Amino acid sequence: MKLDEIRALDSAHFLGVFGERNPVCFVRGEGSTLYDQDGKAYTDLFAGIAVNALGYHHPAVTDALIAQAEAGILHTSNLYYVEPQAKLAALLCAHTFADRAFFSNSGAEANEGAMKLACKYFYAQGIDRYKIISADHSFHGRTLATVAATGHDYYQEPFRPLLPQGISQVPYNDIDALRAAIDEHTAAVMLEPMQGEGGVTPADPAYLRAVRDLCDEQGILLILDEVQTGVCRTGTFYCHEQYGVTPDIMTSAKGLGCGFPIGAILASEKVAGKIAIGDHGSTFGGNTLATAVSLSVVSYMLEHDFSGVAREKGAHLMAALRAIDSDRIVEVRGLGMLLGVQLPPEVAARDVSRAMLARGFVVGTASGNVLRIAPPLVITYEEMDAFVAALAEELK
Ligand SMILES: Cc1ncc(COP(=O)(O)O)c(C=O)c1O
Repeated sequence: MKLDEIRALDSAHFLGVFGERNPVCFVRGEGSTLYDQDGKAYTDLFAGIAVNALGYHHPAVTDALIAQAEAGILHTSNLYYVEPQAKLAALLCAHTFADRAFFSNSGAEANEGAMKLACKYFYAQGIDRYKIISADHSFHGRTLATVAATGHDYYQEPFRPLLPQGISQVPYNDIDALRAAIDEHTAAVMLEPMQGEGGVTPADPAYLRAVRDLCDEQGILLILDEVQTGVCRTGTFYCHEQYGVTPDIMTSAKGLGCGFPIGAILASEKVAGKIAIGDHGSTFGGNTLATAVSLSVVSYMLEHDFSGVAREKGAHLMAALRAIDSDRIVEVRGLGMLLGVQLPPEVAARDVSRAMLARGFVVGTASGNVLRIAPPLVITYEEMDAFVAALAEELK
């Protein structure tokens, strides 16, 4: 099908939530390269919004997918034991603070479950704590509860009054504001260790540590949303490790399936021990195919130290971006292979992203006029250098 025909079908029948998309349809991928219908090659520095950590056509993804499909079982439901699900839960628990895992189909769904766990933790003890405090400029998803937790008017306004009640925001990196917002009904604080959608803004290390201390002092829970920052992308398996801060509950998705949809809620026994039969569930969540692919992906990434890869390649990319001689770059920030290039107000990030696409490079944007760079971790140094050279040219 030609691109124009796809566009016509899309604009006639697809719910108009994405508007006019970037004018390309990728049909094939290899490594960090995507190909459109005309065979034009693009170097990918966005990985399907920080998802495809192993790039395209990687055997750790493709072989697991094919093997499971050939076994003839994609899904059996959670009424029966699922071998890769049990193994994936064990693997994630072995490599994180968590004692227990639950699998969902997306990041938003994992965050919904995380908020439920926090509320149930207190309910089970007869304590009336149910409120969740998140941060301004955060992003936690598109379901009703996660929209209520997402600190952006843009996402919240059409859905006021927000459901469920009791979810509020405070400024990020401001411990006094958080302290002031906590009351006797607060159950948990939910934060991204580095805000992705909100502008690629890392938490201040002192802030995150103070949040942990404050939660302990108040007897409330810390939920870290690592949907975007997790699975090696920021230079440690999960981003909070480099802050020396341990959450009570953590959510993961995106890189967890490297393109196959899967999310996870990870929790300490303290919290998980308060969850009873029937408190949560899912038809598809953690199904055989999703967990078989994720088990293969996560095992491969751990065995090949992709956290180290993200640290080294990220340091190179950060240095190269910072070396661009252009007064159209205000700042380059981020951790590992999740970087943001802050542009001045007169240079629209969306326009630069479009121009880079025309030059054969896929790069994203984030709120606050930021170019968001989250390459597949398998990208080569040559590919990164070619991108930086093209960006320098574009921003001349
Ligand atoms: C930090 C964070 N949390 C949650 C989500 C929502 O994940 P999903 O789109 O898989 O529901 C995202 C998506 O970008 C995210 O970046």
